[in-house]
Amino acid sequence: MRTIGEFSLKEIDELSYFDYFASIGGATLHPGGPLTTIEVLHHVALSPDELLLEVGCGTGATTLLLLKSGFNIRSCDINPRMVAATENRCQKEGYLFFHPDLASSEQLPYEDNTFRVVLLEAVFGFIKDFERAFRELKRVLKPNGYLAFVDMHYKSTPPSGVVEELGKIFGNPLPVLYEADWFTIFQKLRKIHWNTYDYPRGNYGKINDHLLQEKLKSEIPDEEKREEVFRALLNKFGVYESALNRNRQYLKYHVGIWQLINKDEVQ
Ligand SMILES: C[S@@+](CC[C@H](N)C(=O)[O-])C[C@H]1O[C@@H](n2cnc3c(N)ncnc32)[C@H](O)[C@@H]1O
Repeated sequence: MRTIGEFSLKEIDELSYFDYFASIGGATLHPGGPLTTIEVLHHVALSPDELLLEVGCGTGATTLLLLKSGFNIRSCDINPRMVAATENRCQKEGYLFFHPDLASSEQLPYEDNTFRVVLLEAVFGFIKDFERAFRELKRVLKPNGYLAFVDMHYKSTPPSGVVEELGKIFGNPLPVLYEADWFTIFQKLRKIHWNTYDYPRGNYGKINDHLLQEKLKSEIPDEEKREEVFRALLNKFGVYESALNRNRQYLKYHVGIWQLINKDEVQ
């Protein structure tokens, strides 16, 4: 897999949203960052002998937080660059035996009834076949297990063009879902926790400039080229950030947790 130092400036500009973040690593790509993850952990009360699955681990921010906190976890992502980014990040921090899986929510490589908690942070809107994924998520969950989401929803009808603009940025037309839609989707499960937040300025996909420079130093020996790449990466990030900031009045984010009771009835 090519490193960012091997891309031309034009290629950097054309990187897809996910390939961009996978290449720079280190970012948290869900709203609220570690604080919303901690909110989930608080409500699911997972013990160290129980398993949690993170679907759509991205560059591994939450995976690392969970490993550092001593939880017993598995992580997977549909994008091989993301899997590599998570693996590298965990290896660097000393978790040498942790290997995220290359897998999609629609086809999970895990046994039935394995996990007490399945967590998806900013993944729901990217899933192509949610019915199939929902069946899989329920299949791998233990009876009475928890399905937890950190995600965004629309708080008011967005003016025309907004959905298209965000869809273009994410490389995927995100579904227009309101709070009530989330409740409808999971109506057969028991709602354990639901908390919403206004979309704050610049609180999405934060990147750490210092870590990024450190990474570039190891990949691009030539200082001039390195600075050019650094600027190109920051500019690209600015495009994502400004689109979200401009449209934040239509958005909210939430932490939602549902429990899978009567597992046989909701298959
Ligand atoms: C916005 S990122 C969020 C990453 C991470 N959860 C975080 O909060 O930093 C969405 C991630 O979901 C992954 N993804 C998209 N569709 C998926 C699917 N059907 N199954 C598994 N992962 C998926 C993408 O590759 C990407 O890494």
